[in-house]
Amino acid sequence: MRKPSVFITRRIPEEGIRIVIEHCEVEVSDYDGVLPRETLLKKVRNRDGILCLLTDTIDREVMEAAGPNLRVIANYAVGYNNIDVEEATRRGIMVTNTPGVLTETTADLAWALMMSVARRIVEGDKFVRAGRFRGWEPMLLLGTDVYGATLGIIGFGRIGQAMARRAQGFNMRVLYYDLVRAPFHVERELRAEFRTLPELLQEADFVSIHVPLTKDTYHLIGEKELRMMKKEAYLINTARGPIVDEKALVTALQEGWIRGAALDVFENEPEVEPGLLELDNVVLAPHIGSASYATRAKMAIMAAENLVRALRGEIPPNLVNPEVLKR
Ligand code: NAP
Ligand code: GLV
Ligand code: GLV
Repeated sequence: MRKPSVFITRRIPEEGIRIVIEHCEVEVSDYDGVLPRETLLKKVRNRDGILCLLTDTIDREVMEAAGPNLRVIANYAVGYNNIDVEEATRRGIMVTNTPGVLTETTADLAWALMMSVARRIVEGDKFVRAGRFRGWEPMLLLGTDVYGATLGIIGFGRIGQAMARRAQGFNMRVLYYDLVRAPFHVERELRAEFRTLPELLQEADFVSIHVPLTKDTYHLIGEKELRMMKKEAYLINTARGPIVDEKALVTALQEGWIRGAALDVFENEPEVEPGLLELDNVVLAPHIGSASYATRAKMAIMAAENLVRALRGEIPPNLVNPEVLKR
């Protein structure tokens, strides 16, 4: 029997590639970057499966270029806003993602960003390297206490709840906003209180974003929302850049509507709104939320298993469009 043909858009950890190689004819892109559009369109031709990254836009044109054999698009990420899922469903193509295995790793990074901006770690590092450290000073680099502060979590899913668990150890008050209220036992266990978005923005000392990027969450945090936050508050975004209006955020940070921000994601990656680069009260990371050795290996295995199971005619464990099975 013919082995299914698969294209992997960029080298991922070997643990995943090995699984795909066992079951499929595989081409792994040898291009060390985001594939140029023309190359992507050419490489997907006649494939049964594609294993792609969040930096690949997989839209109608790509599915059309792949042709009628395409049965599965396995994303090497939990967020799948880079894929036109509706179009895939219409075409009977399964879409999968990598939930769960990166939850704690991403929450760790969000926590690290929160601590870094609150305690001015990056500014301090630059200060020491610049040879400006003259010894302990009463007023040197004063910041904000995280311990005992109020954390506002936007999107109380896997990563949002992992933030709430961390907050217990810091004796924080935890507020959350989500489309649906969490079950009572979850609220009680995580000592988390539901708030509307405006309430959360007005009460929280740290606001951390953990919703997916959808039509509804695009610019969820814009000028109006930033103005609702406390002057002493901080915004942390490890979800997706376009959830925050980056231009409005620059103004907020310049004019002191809020005290600081920490970002792992940007509106037009890899570009960064130029104003952000000039500000000291923002910590910037290059989309490394899930970037631990262990987690990236687990994501590779998960993406590979999803792909292989779908190609064998099974229901992949992390199918994001189960409607496709009803067709
Ligand atoms: P999740 O478990 O699905 O959690 C997302 C939560 O947001 C869910 O509770 C969801 O509710 C809620 N939500 C969806 N739309 C909403 C809206 N319009 N308003 C309020 N709440 C809304 O996902 P996760 O695993 O925690 O991941 C969250 C996101 O983090 C991913 O989508 C991805 O974009 C991002 N991420 C980034 C990195 C990084 O490297 N920086 C790493 C991993 C993930 P429902 O379940 O009811 O829809
Ligand atoms: C990373 O951003 C992911 O969605 O997995
Ligand atoms: C600071 O180093 C202190 O001892 O208070």
